[in-house]
This record gives sequence, C-alpha cells and structure tokens, in this order.
Amino acid sequence: MGEAYTAVLEKLTRDSIRHDRDPRGRFAWPGAIGADEWLMPPELMSVHGTPQAAALDGRTLKALSKWELMNFFSLTLHGERELLAVISRHIHSDGFEAPSDFFHRFIAEENHHMWFFSEFCRRYGKIYPDSTVSVASEDLRPELEVFLSFLRVLIFEEVGDHLNIRMSHDERLPAIVRALNAAHHADESRHIAAGRQIARHLYARLGRLSPEEDAAFRDQLKEYVGFTLQSFYNPQMYADAGIRDAYGFRRELLRQPGRRGQHAVVLGRSAAFLRSSGMVLRPDELF
Ligand SMILES: [Fe+2]
Ligand SMILES: [Fe+2]
Repeated sequence: MGEAYTAVLEKLTRDSIRHDRDPRGRFAWPGAIGADEWLMPPELMSVHGTPQAAALDGRTLKALSKWELMNFFSLTLHGERELLAVISRHIHSDGFEAPSDFFHRFIAEENHHMWFFSEFCRRYGKIYPDSTVSVASEDLRPELEVFLSFLRVLIFEEVGDHLNIRMSHDERLPAIVRALNAAHHADESRHIAAGRQIARHLYARLGRLSPEEDAAFRDQLKEYVGFTLQSFYNPQMYADAGIRDAYGFRRELLRQPGRRGQHAVVLGRSAAFLRSSGMVLRPDELF
C-alpha cells in the first residue's frame, strides 16, 4: 500500500500545481443578480418533494432559492475553515509524511475557495453565521479520533461536491453560480481522491476495533452526518424568504418522508465508499 499511496498523492500534488490559479480576476462578477432567477435549483432545495414547497407561491420559492444558495456557500466556507484546522494539525506530524506536500496545496486551494464563496455571498446576499457546535469527543484512542476527523472532512467534501456537480451544468442558474460550482468541483475532485486514500490508509492502521470503539465510531459518524444534513435547513433562510414561523417550518420539513430519499441521494457516494472500504456496511446506520 505504501508506494501506491505515495504515488497517488504525488500525482494529485502535481495536478494541483498544474491547475494553480489565483481566483482574483478569474470570474466575471455581474453587477447584480435578478430576483426572478433560480440560484439553488428547485430539486436541490430543502423543501423539494414536500407539501410545504407546493404551498409556497412562485416568488417566495425563488427568494428561498437565493437564500438556500447563500446558506450552502456559507456552510461551505465555514466548513472549509474547520477542515483547514484538521489538515494544519497534521501537516507535519509523524505518519503524515506522504500527504504533507499535498496538504500544502490543499490549504492553498481551500483559501481560494473561502475567498470566492465569501465574495459571492457578500456581493449578492450575505454570509450566514457559523452554527457549528463542536461535537464533544468521547474518549477515543488518538488514532481513532484522527481517523474520524479525516472521515468527517471527506464526507463534508463529498456532500458539497454532489451539489457542486449538479449546479455546475444547470442552465437555469446564472453563469457566475455555475462557474463557482465548477471551479470548486475541479479542486474538490482531487481533495476527495486524496481524502479517500488517506481514510483507507488510517483505517488500515487502526487494526481491529473493540466492540466499544466500533459503537462509538458509528455513533459519532451518525451524529456528524445528521448535523451536516440538518445544516441545510437553516431557519434563517426561511425567515429571509418571508416564510412565517421559520422554526416551525423547518421542524415540519425535517419530518417529511420525502426528504429522506433526498438525503440518501446526497450521501450516496459517501455511503458507497464507506461500504466498499468496509468501514460502515449499512447506509441506514449513517442517518
Ligand atoms: Fe473547498
Ligand atoms: Fe476541499
């Protein structure tokens, strides 16, 4: 595994260097975005497939589409700050010699992403505050804790990438929205490829998990996935779209059976990876 692992990371580092581009000056920022445009495609919105969506008038649904995109980009940039903390913590640690060079590229790229997502939110809407609550870590052995932190980074990036891919070629969206999603996807495909290698590598080095460790691992993963999915139902965006009782609206949405199928789609790639690598065999353990 050692040589192949190093070779993949070296290749991803070379690819990253070849695609290095400063985001300033890269995008054509329009002066404004029309209120009649979709910003988040309706199929990706948190209300999709629910009676609540059918009850909204067209103008409110379009307004919500704008605030859902602001929320997605805000979640992305807050999440990127968190994952930079994970990567920075390990960039020069024992056991991370192989990905260290790639981590330098990763940090540079995430810094670019945070810039262009925050620029978009500031120009056309706002950045929603970070609502992340730090998950109280149970007493796991350090290697298991490190593995979990890289797995969280991977799942976060895969969920975002699923949305980026779908938005990057959706003709209903303004060109700037498509361009930012496409630019992000191009870099994230390398981060995800590296993240999968690193997760497999760390998992193999863990050895056998005790039943208690296995249960704690599953609980923490499930908690993280649940939190990630719920963050797409930010009550602030419902309030900003003019929906009354934003918290009640959110609660009702989260109860809708139609949403579970959407969650499964968004998590599909992560679930397939966890299954194929033997980490979590049943996707219903995830959410
Ligand atoms: Fe990113
Ligand atoms: Fe990334």
